[in-house]
Amino acid sequence: MIPPILFLFSAFIGLTVGSECPLGWTFNSVTSECYTFSARLFTFDESVQYCNSIGGKSVSISSYSERDALVALTNTTILQPWLGARRNTTTKNFYNLDGSYFYTLMWTTNEPSINGDCVTFKGANPSGLQVTQCYQLQPAFCKQTPALCNSAVLGGPSTWSGTFQSPGYPVQYYNNLDCRYLINSPNNTYITIEFYPFVIEEWYDSVDLYEGNSTSYADHIGSVSSYDWVRGYESDGNVMNVRFKTNYAITDKGWLATWTAKKDMPVISQYGMNGTMVSPNYPNNYDPHDEQVYQISVAYGMQVNLTIDDFRTENRFDYLNIYNSSSQSNSTLVATLSGASVAPYNFISPKSYMSMKFVSDGSLQYKGWHAVWTIC
Ligand SMILES: *[C@@H]1O[C@H](CO)[C@@H](O)[C@H](O)[C@H]1NC(C)=O
Ligand SMILES: *[C@@H]1O[C@H](CO)[C@@H](O)[C@H](O)[C@H]1NC(C)=O
Ligand SMILES: *[C@@H]1O[C@H](CO)[C@@H](O)[C@H](O)[C@H]1NC(C)=O
Ligand SMILES: *[C@@H]1O[C@H](CO)[C@@H](O)[C@H](O)[C@H]1NC(C)=O
Ligand SMILES: *[C@@H]1O[C@H](CO)[C@@H](O)[C@H](O)[C@H]1NC(C)=O
Ligand SMILES: *[C@@H]1O[C@H](CO)[C@@H](O)[C@H](O)[C@H]1NC(C)=O
Ligand SMILES: *[C@@H]1O[C@H](CO)[C@@H](O)[C@H](O)[C@H]1NC(C)=O
Ligand SMILES: *[C@@H]1O[C@H](CO)[C@@H](O)[C@H](O)[C@H]1NC(C)=O
Repeated sequence: MIPPILFLFSAFIGLTVGSECPLGWTFNSVTSECYTFSARLFTFDESVQYCNSIGGKSVSISSYSERDALVALTNTTILQPWLGARRNTTTKNFYNLDGSYFYTLMWTTNEPSINGDCVTFKGANPSGLQVTQCYQLQPAFCKQTPALCNSAVLGGPSTWSGTFQSPGYPVQYYNNLDCRYLINSPNNTYITIEFYPFVIEEWYDSVDLYEGNSTSYADHIGSVSSYDWVRGYESDGNVMNVRFKTNYAITDKGWLATWTAKKDMPVISQYGMNGTMVSPNYPNNYDPHDEQVYQISVAYGMQVNLTIDDFRTENRFDYLNIYNSSSQSNSTLVATLSGASVAPYNFISPKSYMSMKFVSDGSLQYKGWHAVWTIC
């Protein structure tokens, strides 16, 4: 026979019943916890043992949003289930068995009475906590936290890029999450990361980035915000921790993150009358994953006359960008040079400054390029 209490439980809750919880447990989307009632009746101590024996713990109410969710779960039940809360007979104060804060404003009318030291939950109006003799027989009420995060250790000593996403993306993430993504990139690199798309409950749900395996304020790199047009960030070192926290209400599609390791290659700058610029290691082969920026600036009123007299890179994937400004963007990009038939190439800067960026990918290295420049 299925006791009425179980039948009512599954018929009236109106909450998501998905694969988040083990069979026989019901997911609550407000608390992101799994709950179940026992069909059998127990004393308080037995109910605690019962919850442990099925992989959970007695329900201690840890927030007002959880209290409200439990009212919705139990407002049609006749038998009040045990909560994981009891009186300390020395101090006379009540406490939650799981150590969470005990809310003294959650009692139903005329409670706490002296009629017992254990606590049951009354779902019917006026709902709230009610003192009950610990030896009485009531249903056990258990909860367990499902594994909803896709927390992960990502990357490694030879991984240069990757993507990861919030759990449930692009449909919906859950409430009450605290997920961590620890990114490791090769030695002597730093990590750049971008979040597109990024759709979360702004202010209440958050994505924070930290230097190293840390979540402390001193290591905070930044908080990702959907209000920022540019959502790109970078670390100093080769370990970055990403923490995704959500609150008890309102979820959204979530986010997709793309990260890339970059070699720490200081900008090469030249000034004066003339100079020579070369790709890393030239005339030996450049390395994989190079990203080298070059700056040239000459006296005001003069121009830079740059001539590339030797050039060989992997076609399309390893390239040299020429910019007619010291700032590098699509709107200052003059040419992207790549392959075997570039040299000789000449560029005269419109102003007294110009810049270049050499980029190589992970495969096929060549000798690169050699350039000379003079003022004119
Ligand atoms: C019980 O709670 C549910 C969900 O909040 C609500 O729809 C229903 O009307 C409540 N029933 C009673 C008897 O209060
Ligand atoms: C009851 O409270 C006293 C005094 O704070 C404490 O020492 C004791 O451990 C408590 N007992 C329980 C069962 O928590
Ligand atoms: C990277 O650095 C760590 C710590 O300095 C070192 O133990 C490890 O051997 C290095 N790995 C490589 C591939 O150089
Ligand atoms: C990161 O830090 C946490 C907490 O200090 C620790 O438990 C975990 O093992 C660390 N992870 C790695 C990969 O070092
Ligand atoms: C390059 O500039 C130096 C002065 O900085 C000058 O002595 C030299 O003659 C110049 N070389 C060429 C080829 O213009
Ligand atoms: C730029 O340099 C090249 C190679 O040295 C030279 O042939 C050319 O005349 C120079 N152009 C100007 C405008 O100075
Ligand atoms: C620059 O151009 C590339 C290739 O066309 C494009 O993918 C990128 O979004 C552009 N960047 C900006 C800042 O417009
Ligand atoms: C710089 O290059 C861009 C792209 O080729 C071009 O639109 C722009 O007019 C150039 N600026 C100057 C000052 O020549």
